[in-house]
Amino acid sequence: MDVLPLKDKIAIITGSASGIGQGIAIRYAREGAHVACGDLNVEGAQKTVDEIKTIGRESMAVRLDVTKSADVEAMARSVFERFGRIDILVNSAGVISANFITEVSESTWDAIIAVDLKGTFLCMREIAKYMIQQKSGKIISISSKSGKKGGLWLAAYCSAKFGIVGLTQSVALDLAPYKVNVNAICPGNVFSTPMWDLLDVEYSKKLGVPPDQVRKMYIEKVPLGRGCTVDDVANVAVFLASSYSDYLTGQAINVTGGQEVH
Ligand SMILES: NC(=O)c1ccc[n+]([C@@H]2O[C@H](COP(=O)([O-])OP(=O)(O)OC[C@H]3O[C@@H](n4cnc5c(N)ncnc54)[C@H](O)[C@@H]3O)[C@@H](O)[C@H]2O)c1
Repeated sequence: MDVLPLKDKIAIITGSASGIGQGIAIRYAREGAHVACGDLNVEGAQKTVDEIKTIGRESMAVRLDVTKSADVEAMARSVFERFGRIDILVNSAGVISANFITEVSESTWDAIIAVDLKGTFLCMREIAKYMIQQKSGKIISISSKSGKKGGLWLAAYCSAKFGIVGLTQSVALDLAPYKVNVNAICPGNVFSTPMWDLLDVEYSKKLGVPPDQVRKMYIEKVPLGRGCTVDDVANVAVFLASSYSDYLTGQAINVTGGQEVH
């Protein structure tokens, strides 16, 4: 292996304008990859690109709605035209909303399933075509501990994240003959993300406690005694994108400080 585990690999990261996707994009560049950053928020994706360029790696921002197959196809085409191959796909685009079951509107359900589950499927389906031709590739999807165990007020989100685990297991079988590894990461609560800025407010109202107490309550459930960080997730994402994980496919790896063990 090269000194840098992702040296000159070509990666696409969805949801890379902020949070976990942004952290993985920058970390992949530090580990040697050239990175295409896809996001609905293209200005945010461009900021990630600017940071990657300061590391000395090539990068491009792509305006992407993962729920639209035409967007996904156009992104894959433009990345392939620029770099000539696609080695790594990370599906990190995602949305969440916390609602008691009788208050989950049809539009909220549809939106969460469309971005978190269908979006992951569309990106896998399209990028797989390039990886099959190459007979190599790494596909990594960000599920959640909510993809392993049901969560209070998370009917739609858990359904989508459980779906990603099934999708990962199935596509891993489809793509194994082509030496394409397909895995998922199931992070615990990553409090530094915009997603948790939203959850703090929603949970605070529902639990009837101040926002700063919400995180304390969630940390108390973690055996290792702290929240998950973007770096904790990126460490596993580097491993799954590198040749160190060549004999690993169809897995959904918990990064939860011991909170989830199945
Ligand atoms: N924050 C956590 O505690 C946590 C825990 C477990 C899993 N996750 C998962 O990690 C992933 C990243 O979440 P995050 O915490 O970094 O949140 P985030 O809100 O910072 O990132 C999500 C990104 O997805 C983008 N996005 C939303 N809809 C999109 C669409 N239709 N097309 C393209 N991009 C779209 C957003 O613009 C944003 O940049 C999500 O899939 C989330 O479910 C988060």
